[in-house]
Amino acid sequence: MYDFKPAAPLDTEALYRELLAAAEALTADEPDGVANMANVAALLWEFLPDLNWAGFYRVAPAKGGGTDELVLGPFVGRPACIRIPFGRGVCGAAAQQGATQLVADVHAFPGHIACDAASASELVVPVLRDGAVVAVIDLDSPSPSRFTAEDAAGIEALAALLAERV
Ligand code: SME
Repeated sequence: MYDFKPAAPLDTEALYRELLAAAEALTADEPDGVANMANVAALLWEFLPDLNWAGFYRVAPAKGGGTDELVLGPFVGRPACIRIPFGRGVCGAAAQQGATQLVADVHAFPGHIACDAASASELVVPVLRDGAVVAVIDLDSPSPSRFTAEDAAGIEALAALLAERV
């Protein structure tokens, strides 16, 4: 049985190839977005070394039905801030710009939201459906400069795979 863990050690390219294959296998026949985000958060945690947080924020109305903001979704890691307005922090920047944020040093990022004091670097990738941001994938690491352009490309491919599944 395929146990949804990398056959370590793998180089980064092979790691993302296996991660995407596992995400495809787990989400292909499942219409429930929460279930899919939960399993993909677990996969990110299993596959990618040196993380302290991996998961999703979804675009949803503010409390009381106001403008859309980011609302915490399935994740692995410490409890995190629940609501993030567009434009705030690394996640809010990704949602507002519809663009990947690769942050080598979170302490140098204006408005960074420190959910876990251990976080040193971060990668946030928007999930786009029909050109609109519907969620973001957020990865945090305790190591500075943990994420590379290869990680960004791998997570962008994952976001594209999940566009209709979250
Ligand atoms: N650091 C993020 C907030 C989310 S936590 O990292 C889980 C940010 O600045 O948007």
